[in-house]
Amino acid sequence: MKIDVHFTPFGLVAGDLAGRGVVVIDVLRATTTVITAVANGAKAVIPAATSEEAVRLASNLEKDGVLLAGERKSLKIEGFALGNSPREMTAAAVAGKTIVLATTNGTPALVAAQGGDPVLVGAPANFKALAERARAILAERGDLVIVCAGREKQFAIEDAYTAGRLVKAVKRGLKKVALNDAARAAVALAGELAGWPEALEQSEAARQLAEADLSADVAFAARVDRFTVVPTYADRRIT
Ligand code: MLT
Repeated sequence: MKIDVHFTPFGLVAGDLAGRGVVVIDVLRATTTVITAVANGAKAVIPAATSEEAVRLASNLEKDGVLLAGERKSLKIEGFALGNSPREMTAAAVAGKTIVLATTNGTPALVAAQGGDPVLVGAPANFKALAERARAILAERGDLVIVCAGREKQFAIEDAYTAGRLVKAVKRGLKKVALNDAARAAVALAGELAGWPEALEQSEAARQLAEADLSADVAFAARVDRFTVVPTYADRRIT
C-alpha cells in the first residue's frame, strides 16, 4: 500500500493521477468553501482555473440558478455574486444553485487533479468523513494521493498539516503503508503542532486574510468536522 502527498500540484504531469484515488486540500479557503457550499445544498460547484474561465463556463450554463464566485488577493472578484468565503455559502445563498468558482490556488489545484478517480474535496471541515472515504479507497486500491493546493506555488502549512493528519488517520492499524518523502514530512508536521488552530492561525494565508479583515474565515476553517459531506469532483463538477 502506498500514500503519496504533493505539497503543491505543480510537480504533477498528465497521467500521474489517472485512475488513482485523490484528495485535494486547500484549507484557506477554497476546499472549505466548496465543502460548505455542498453541505448547504448547492447543486454543484464548478471549479475554474481562472476568473476568465469561470465567466466562460458560466456563459455555457442556463443563467437561472448559476452564481459566479471567487477571489483575487482574498477579495471578491468584481462583478461576481460571491467571494470565496465559506461564511457566504449559506443555505439561503446557495441551495439549489450551481456555483462557478475561481480562486488563486484552490480551484487550479482541483482542475489539475482531474483524471483522479475519485477526486475528493477535503479540509478540517469534513475531516472525519473524508478520512473514512480515503481509508476505504486505500484498502480497496492500495493507493492514495493527497494533493495540497499550497500558496503561490509554494508549501502551505495549513494544507500540509491537514495532509499529515489525513495520512495518520488513513493508515492507522494498517501494516506496510509506503509513504513518499512529502507524506513523511507531513506526518512529522502533524505530530509537531497542537491542532488546526495552531496550524492555521499563524500561516501566511491567515496573515493575508487578516489583512483583508477576514480572520473570521480562518476561525471557520479551523473548526474540525463541521460537516459530513465529502464532495466529489467528476465530469467537471463537484457534487
Ligand atoms: C486560494 O485558492 O488561493 C485560496 O482559496 C485563497 C483564498 O483564501 O481566498
